[in-house]
Amino acid sequence: MSAAPDVLGIIERKKRGRELTADEIAALVAGFTAGQVPAYQMSAWLMAVWFRGLNPAETVALTDAMLASGSQLDLSCLSCPTADKHSTGGVGDKVSLLLAPLAAACGLAVPMLSGRGLGHTGGTLDKLAAIPGYRTDLTNDEFLRVVAEVGCAVIGQGPTIAPADGRIYALRDVTGTVDCVPLITASILSKKLAAGPASIVIDLKIGSGAFMPDLASGRALAAALMATAARWGRRTSVVFSDMSQPLGTAIGHASEVIEAFSALRPAGRARAPADLVALTEELTAEMLLLARLEPGRAAALARVRRAWDEGLAFERMLRWVSAQGGRLAPDREDFGLVVAPPAGEATAARAGWIEAVDCREVGLSLGDLGAARRSVEDSLDLTTGILFHARIGQRVDKDQPLATILGGGGPAARAAAHRIAGAVTIAQERVDPPPLVLERLTSPAA
Ligand code: URA
Repeated sequence: MSAAPDVLGIIERKKRGRELTADEIAALVAGFTAGQVPAYQMSAWLMAVWFRGLNPAETVALTDAMLASGSQLDLSCLSCPTADKHSTGGVGDKVSLLLAPLAAACGLAVPMLSGRGLGHTGGTLDKLAAIPGYRTDLTNDEFLRVVAEVGCAVIGQGPTIAPADGRIYALRDVTGTVDCVPLITASILSKKLAAGPASIVIDLKIGSGAFMPDLASGRALAAALMATAARWGRRTSVVFSDMSQPLGTAIGHASEVIEAFSALRPAGRARAPADLVALTEELTAEMLLLARLEPGRAAALARVRRAWDEGLAFERMLRWVSAQGGRLAPDREDFGLVVAPPAGEATAARAGWIEAVDCREVGLSLGDLGAARRSVEDSLDLTTGILFHARIGQRVDKDQPLATILGGGGPAARAAAHRIAGAVTIAQERVDPPPLVLERLTSPAA
C-alpha cells in the first residue's frame, strides 16, 4: 500500500491556486475512495477546486484517478455499435428513460451509467428507483448480459464501476460544489469511460435550471469535456439544449417515469410534451450519426421516428426494465407506479405572457416536497411531484393554474405552490418561446 497522501498540503496548495500533480490527485482520490481520507477533507478540497479550478492537465488527472477507482467494462462481446448519452443535469429531464430503449431499437448497444439527483436537478437513478424491483446495482456481468440481450441497460456507479464518482458525487450534492466545470467533466467522463461506449453524446443544458447559466459557460464545459474525452479516443458530440424551463410537464420521480414511458407508447409521440419528444429525437439521432449508423440527420431522425411509432422502443423499454427486475403494469396508464394525489396549485398572479421561469427554484420546490437530498443519508419521497403546465411565450389569464403540486401534505404543498408561482415572470407584451436546441458541436475525431 502506498504512503498516505499529504491531504492537508494538497488542500492548501489548491486553496492558493497552485497546480497539483497527477500523483497528488490520484492519491487523494484513491485515499477518499478507500475511506482513508475523511469526507470533511475531501469537501474542503472540492470547495478549493470550486474557487480555484483545475487546469486541463489536472482535469485529465482527476478523470483518470476516478476512472481507475473501479474496473472498465470490456464491450467487445457486443455486436452492435456502442453509444451513450449523458445530460449535465436539468429539471424534469427524463430523456434517458426514453432514449436508452429508443436507441437500442434503432440498432445501438447502450450501456448507460447514470447518476442520482444533484443539486436542484433530478437524476435518472432516483427516477428508476420509483419502479418496484428495479435493480441499479447489477454486477458487471449482469449489466453486459442485459445490454447484449436487450440492447440497453441503465445502472449507477457502484463498488466496481467508477466508485470514486459515486462518493464524490454524493458529497458535491450536499456541499455546494456541483456547478464546477472540471468536477462535472471528471464526474461525467469517469462514468462514461468506465462503461466503455465508443461514442458519447452530451446534452449540455443551458439556462436557469442548469448548472451552466449561459452559452459562454456552457462552451467552457463543452471544451473541457471534448478535450478530456479525446484523450481516450472517444467520439463526442455536444448538443446545447435549453433549460430555461422544465422539460416536459412532469417533475418528480414516479411521475417522470410515467410521462417518459407513456410517451414511448406507439401513439405516444404525438401526445407527449413537444419539447420532450423533440429533444429525445434530436439526441438519439445524434447518437446514430456519431456511431455512423446513418449518413445524415434527416435519415437518422426518420429511423428514430419509425422505431418509436412502430412500438419497437416501447417493447424494448418493457424488456429492459423487466431484465433489471422492474415490475411495470403496461396496461395501466400509470404503469402501476405510485404517485401522490394533487395537493395544491400554483396560479398566475396576473394576466399576460410567460416571460421567464426561475427553473432552479422549481427544482428546489421539488426538494421541499421531500424528493431531494439535503444530506448524504437522506431517503427520497419518490411519489411527490409537480406538473408544470406553463411554457415561456404562453398567454395566461389571472389565476390560471401554472403548476399542480402532487403530495407533500398541506403546508408543504402550499409552500411549494407559492415558491413556484414566484418563480414565473409574467410580461405584458407577447414573448417568443426560446429555441430548444441552441448549438451543436462534434469532436474533430468524429
Ligand atoms: N452529471 C454527472 O454525472 N456529474 C455531474 O457532475 C453533473 C452532471
